[in-house]
Amino acid sequence: MGATMSSCCGNDVDEERFMGSTGASSTGDGIRSTWKIFTYKELHNATNGFSEDNKLGEGGFGSVYWGKTSDGLQIAVKKLKAMNSKAEMEFAVEVEVLGRVRHKNLLGLRGYCAGSDQRLIVYDYMPNLSLLSHLHGQFANEVQLDWKKRMNIIIGSAEGLVYLHHEVTPHIIHRDIKASNVLLDSNFEPLVADFGFAKLIPDGVSHMTTRVKGTLGYLAPEYAMWGKVSESCDVYSFGILLLEIITGRKPIEKLPGGVKRTITEWVEPLIAKSRFKDLVDPRLRGNFDEAQLRQTINVAALCVQAEPEKRLTMKEVVNLLKDYAPSRSKLNGLRMESIKYGDDLMNMDQNSEDEKEMDTESNVYGVFGAMEVRKMTDPYNNYGGDRKKILHG
Ligand SMILES: Nc1ncnc2c1ncn2[C@@H]1O[C@H](COP(=O)(O)OP(=O)(O)OP(=O)(O)O)[C@@H](O)[C@H]1O
Ligand SMILES: [Mg+2]
Repeated sequence: MGATMSSCCGNDVDEERFMGSTGASSTGDGIRSTWKIFTYKELHNATNGFSEDNKLGEGGFGSVYWGKTSDGLQIAVKKLKAMNSKAEMEFAVEVEVLGRVRHKNLLGLRGYCAGSDQRLIVYDYMPNLSLLSHLHGQFANEVQLDWKKRMNIIIGSAEGLVYLHHEVTPHIIHRDIKASNVLLDSNFEPLVADFGFAKLIPDGVSHMTTRVKGTLGYLAPEYAMWGKVSESCDVYSFGILLLEIITGRKPIEKLPGGVKRTITEWVEPLIAKSRFKDLVDPRLRGNFDEAQLRQTINVAALCVQAEPEKRLTMKEVVNLLKDYAPSRSKLNGLRMESIKYGDDLMNMDQNSEDEKEMDTESNVYGVFGAMEVRKMTDPYNNYGGDRKKILHG
């Protein structure tokens, strides 16, 4: 293993297969889970020289390109931004650890390439792209996601997170649960991507500024404010994702006049008035299971509690969602808590900047119960330093 890890891009020895992970399949499509170290040349050829035409998108850590290997496998290659301070060996070890994580709802690594100035991670290409593209992107008008598919995506993603939080050793906190990190295979089965990514980034490099852009709406208040990371941060983000899937709304929307509103602020008064049906994405044209909707919204409410201790665990989330039975819904009447991020954080968010949507219910902004994150007391009393780092990148 040491020999393969010390080799790098452009070296023929790199073709050697990693022997540690064989057998299990990483996706519902029956794709083999073996992975390997790729040469730079291989990935360059597969992606047509990392051409703009092959680019699937760009995230906080680099760009992702579609490609096809010489043996016909469709891949997605994430080309990480230059990061010289992360030693090649250290990077390789961490990628190999993540590469061993296998679950039907987690997008496993197909391989990587690491050279003196290159860091590339290879995944299987997911033909139905991300959940984001179906909710708010290029497929938004096609409405391929009916109620059943949405529930399947919710439960599958939750099961992937249960595996990360409770089953893999050591446990992995994702830290970046959001619609672009839930990918969909040819059967619309969800695969959570980019888990453990924080581990691949050198210590001391703050990606918080980048991450807040487009991610802020998913961040648990204690993480946004004090950098306090735990499994329950993922649970909070999952609750926001759940609301997004049900309502078809973005985590943060810009209202006419420039005010930004979080999804919980929109949802909360509707729940308080028991207007559950009004929460559902209008693109579903009323085709949904009402009892299942209530149960799911209640689970979301228990995920987005401001205090981490009050949130469910991912195991409880899956149990509640799967154990769903109309008569056994004990959670009715629960109150949603809505988080209002401070202006300094809100100004860093740029995802909702181009929001053109006009909102006829803008008068519900600033709803009863909304809590300003900046006014929360720090229950941990020791995150002052981190907070400074978070707010100022
Ligand atoms: N295996 C894949 N198959 C298809 N599309 C992918 C794959 N991996 C990533 N993408 C898409 O490529 C785009 C860029 O992904 P990337 O992970 O770099 O950014 P992101 O998910 O928007 O943000 P973050 O850096 O926080 O993960 C996203 O739209 C993502 O859904
Ligand atoms: Mg991503």
